[in-house]
Amino acid sequence: MLKGKHIILGITGGIAAYKAAMLARLLVKAGAEVQPIMTPSAREFITPLTLSTLTGKPVITEFFTANTGEWHSHVDLGLWADAMVIAPATACTLAKMACGVADNMLVTTYLSARCPVFAAPAMDLDMWAHPTTARNIAALKGDGVAIIEPAAGELASHLTGKGRMEEPEKIAATLADYFRKGTQLSGKKVLITAGPTHEMIDPVRFIGNYSSGKMGFALAEECAARGAEVVLVTGPVALKSNSDRIRRVDVVSACDMLAACEKEFEDCDMAILCAAVADYRPEVKADKKLKREGREELDLRLVRNPDIAATLGAKKGDRLLVGFALETDSEHENALRKIKNKNLDWIVLNSLRDPEAGFGKDTNKVTILSASGKEEAFPAKSKREVAADIIDSVFGKGIN
Ligand code: C5P
Repeated sequence: MLKGKHIILGITGGIAAYKAAMLARLLVKAGAEVQPIMTPSAREFITPLTLSTLTGKPVITEFFTANTGEWHSHVDLGLWADAMVIAPATACTLAKMACGVADNMLVTTYLSARCPVFAAPAMDLDMWAHPTTARNIAALKGDGVAIIEPAAGELASHLTGKGRMEEPEKIAATLADYFRKGTQLSGKKVLITAGPTHEMIDPVRFIGNYSSGKMGFALAEECAARGAEVVLVTGPVALKSNSDRIRRVDVVSACDMLAACEKEFEDCDMAILCAAVADYRPEVKADKKLKREGREELDLRLVRNPDIAATLGAKKGDRLLVGFALETDSEHENALRKIKNKNLDWIVLNSLRDPEAGFGKDTNKVTILSASGKEEAFPAKSKREVAADIIDSVFGKGIN
């Protein structure tokens, strides 16, 4: 999977830098072209000569080569790369990446890179456990950086705990897995609904809910990263999508969302219905802003909205249909009932009782259940990681 891939190997100043030589060797052996970029302090731990010999490329550290005056373009490097992996990633470099402190070639290239970025942190256990590091890691995950979690074991300080850089074999396997997944959904068209719906009362007021759209957008990014063509039908949200494989269709109400979904569903292979659709809408929308003068009370008559999931479920044929259930009680029974009533293949259950799950959060904690009786509960993760778990559950890990 790595043959011919352009990989930037970023090396920062930690004792695990010696393992970067092995990682470079593994990537080159697997057929990748590897461009090492070292921070100045990384050169104290391992010589550039080792990396340039293993990769066949001159190591870049500075913006300019002092004796020749040659300028190294971080922009060109960022465009050249199919993936960037920073191993080891020190607490300092992770902090700079999280804040955009582009004072060296490595972080500058990170900011220019359009490709996926992987970081394999390595540090002492207390540094890893520090809330600052946790904050930076959460920010980087939110920015789409794939963190290759450090392992637990004996550390350079002779203390024992979490902080060892993951072994080069595992880092290389993570990259290979990424490229394999990059084609997992190619040729497939996926419809995703996201966000809330707004049901207009008058031109300035609506019935809505707290859905931010983050889970649906994370699913769209994940499917696109795996090669799918994605149609993202979204209610009003303040989010942007980054992939050119995502076509966004903005809608406001449940009825608009249904119309867009019915049109797009025709040539889809799969739909993931993540939107928090309003159950009811005002029977009539006032043309003008409703005035309170002369009115002590106001009756709003509501009528049922269509169930988009059930409508698509009724005509799904051999398409895959994945729904969500956000419950406050009797979670399991309700989720299983929805699988049946809406003719879903899978349902993703999250409970409002979990502090890590729910509207507006960056994390979610889900249990994924299938119509055929499979069930898997996951710990709290970033919404992008949850999206990966959902796609892995439905399609299997890395299977084409
Ligand atoms: O019945 P409930 O609203 O809990 O079902 C949740 C699932 O059904 C979600 O996948 C949601 O996107 C979908 N749904 C829908 N249209 C509705 C209501 C819910 O597609 N009107």
